[in-house]
Amino acid sequence: MAYIAVLGHGVVGSGVLEVLTTHTESLKKRAKEELIVKHILDLRDFPDLPYSDIFTKDFNKILNDPEVQIVVEVMGGLHPAYDYVKACLENGKSVVTSNKELVASKGAELLRIAQDNNLSFMFEASVGGGIPIIRPISQCLAANEVSEIAGILNGTTNFILTKMIREQMNFGDALALAQQLGYAERDPSADVEGHDACRKICILASLAFGTHIYPDSVHTEGITKISLEDVDYADVWGGVIKLIGSVKMLENGQVHIMVCPMLVHRGSQLASVDDVFNGIMVRGDATGDVVFYGKGAGKLPTASAVVADVIDCVKHFKTRKYLFWEDSKENYVADFGSMETEAYVHVAGETGDAAFTAAQALFPNAKRLLPKQPVDGEAGFTVSGLTEAALKEKLVALDERGVRVLNCIRISDY
Ligand code: HSE
Repeated sequence: MAYIAVLGHGVVGSGVLEVLTTHTESLKKRAKEELIVKHILDLRDFPDLPYSDIFTKDFNKILNDPEVQIVVEVMGGLHPAYDYVKACLENGKSVVTSNKELVASKGAELLRIAQDNNLSFMFEASVGGGIPIIRPISQCLAANEVSEIAGILNGTTNFILTKMIREQMNFGDALALAQQLGYAERDPSADVEGHDACRKICILASLAFGTHIYPDSVHTEGITKISLEDVDYADVWGGVIKLIGSVKMLENGQVHIMVCPMLVHRGSQLASVDDVFNGIMVRGDATGDVVFYGKGAGKLPTASAVVADVIDCVKHFKTRKYLFWEDSKENYVADFGSMETEAYVHVAGETGDAAFTAAQALFPNAKRLLPKQPVDGEAGFTVSGLTEAALKEKLVALDERGVRVLNCIRISDY
């Protein structure tokens, strides 16, 4: 028998209990042991649940229970999750987590503690919800040199953008719906400002390239400025707007990593990843492009990944499951401003023509886009062949010439 404790009984925690209690027999066959949840930590009471008697508010009860060998952390947030997970690993308990904030900011340290104590620290559910991606990168693609990863990593923003593109729904209504469906973070600004996607691309990059990348070193933009006019411009350009997290290994050993909304060509596999689905492209030297697709958020998809890790943990009690990366190093992340870029720019002036003429003086190669539903005084165009720093400088100059920059969205080459 393998005894488990679950920290947190929110959306994912209750899903984990549901999977464990409804698949008991098949899980027992796969793990070759019966999986028994002995404690659930939550500050709230759940008197109506059939397993209400195993709830506790006291973390030490779990920490000091020698029968508990696996702790599932699905509380989310950094504190107290970090302190609890660290204490568990230091006290001989393997940990499975879905907490991307924890893995992205403390992964190197926690992996080191797990290694020193010959325990497993696993986090398949932290990226891509129910999509297998951590295991494929660390095991199935292990024979490859991965050069690049790019993906739609946040279900909530993809759901919102899909509603804007397909149904012309406004941002607020689409966000409320995503929250209602249990996709969004407790604080949805982590979704819409790009921080959740940032944590996920940091985890994938750390795993693929072996060196921790901290979220605060990543250029991150969200989707809050995207308007239905931008959606229209993207359409006439030939694609859709997606929030993309990407990382690329450069020849000099630095990585170019960013999270931002991007125009993605209709023909790209990522363009047809809609609703709450995630799509992740991994470029390997032997495999070429491999794309992973599935539900990136939600109770049961995420719980499925958590429980799969629990099974793996049980099977590896005596031989630690190997996941590891080194801590970060100086100058590992390339200077964002020096990266070459291509972008769509949306501006407003006295007239659309005047705004575009002013833009042409700064961007001689600007190509104008003509939307299906033009708005008086606005213009949209694409620019290429310049660095991020030069683009930023020219947008400031444009503003100084009386042309308001409403948005600037990068163009992807995926
Ligand atoms: N808020 C996250 C998302 C949940 O929408 O993708 C899954 O990590």
